[in-house]
Amino acid sequence: MARLALITGGSRGLGAAFVAQLQAEGWEVVEFSRAAPHACSVKVDLGALAASGPVLDAKLAELAARDWDEVLAVLNAATLAPIGPTARKPPAEVLGNLDLNLKAPVLFAALFVKHFQRHAARKLLANISSGAALKGYAGWSLYCAAKAGLENHVRSIALEQAGEAHPVLAVNVDPGVMDTEMQAAIRATGIDDFPAVERFHGLQAAGMLRAPETVAVIILGELARVTEGGGRIDTATHR
Ligand SMILES: NC(=O)c1ccc[n+]([C@@H]2O[C@H](COP(=O)([O-])OP(=O)(O)OC[C@H]3O[C@@H](n4cnc5c(N)ncnc54)[C@H](OP(=O)(O)O)[C@@H]3O)[C@@H](O)[C@H]2O)c1
Repeated sequence: MARLALITGGSRGLGAAFVAQLQAEGWEVVEFSRAAPHACSVKVDLGALAASGPVLDAKLAELAARDWDEVLAVLNAATLAPIGPTARKPPAEVLGNLDLNLKAPVLFAALFVKHFQRHAARKLLANISSGAALKGYAGWSLYCAAKAGLENHVRSIALEQAGEAHPVLAVNVDPGVMDTEMQAAIRATGIDDFPAVERFHGLQAAGMLRAPETVAVIILGELARVTEGGGRIDTATHR
């Protein structure tokens, strides 16, 4: 079985756990990040779209020229920064958040569909979302906007794909809270920028943050069972 997995933001956290688990299961993995720590990494700043777009286009074209039995693309790279009301943040940081969290995964998904549409392989596009897609958080307005927008974009891709001869199954996934650098960044934020910060200190103190390795195994198990696009997989309650 020739199985290809494309993972954005696989240098650490949940993405790195996906890379390790998928490689252990025999998948060929290609990972996209700035740190690019793996032999399978493509070094790219997904927030710098003018430069990263052609890199992604060329890499996906190269991979799509080969035969595959199964192809998985995981839209995982994201940032909370800048945390705090946007009125207090530099415009470049405000727009930079949306470049990485919304525009980059929209572009990645478009290129994935473009290059792999003709493949008869089982094809899955998984957007790693968040509870922040479904409700607002003071201080996370950009992250909330991007996650909500991307979830609905992915739902729309699923509808578009339903009529294709070889559809891409597009789904959203809520991983729940995990013990990663993203959570450390939340706890390091002052209450002025993030009024709910104490709750996140409490989640860590209560041992509620799951290891990303645990979550990656749960998510990959759920993705293996997907038979149609458009769904929202909530792994937050899996314990
Ligand atoms: N942690 C949680 O509790 C939690 C909860 C709900 C949802 N999520 C979601 O789960 C996913 C993974 O989160 P995580 O906690 O594992 O985050 P993380 O530890 O902060 O890792 C983020 C990943 O994104 C990559 N990334 C960030 N900026 C990038 C850029 N400009 N270009 C390319 N890659 C970039 C990072 O790689 P480089 O820095 O090397 O570029 C890194 O590999 C995210 O979508 C997040 O929104 C997390």
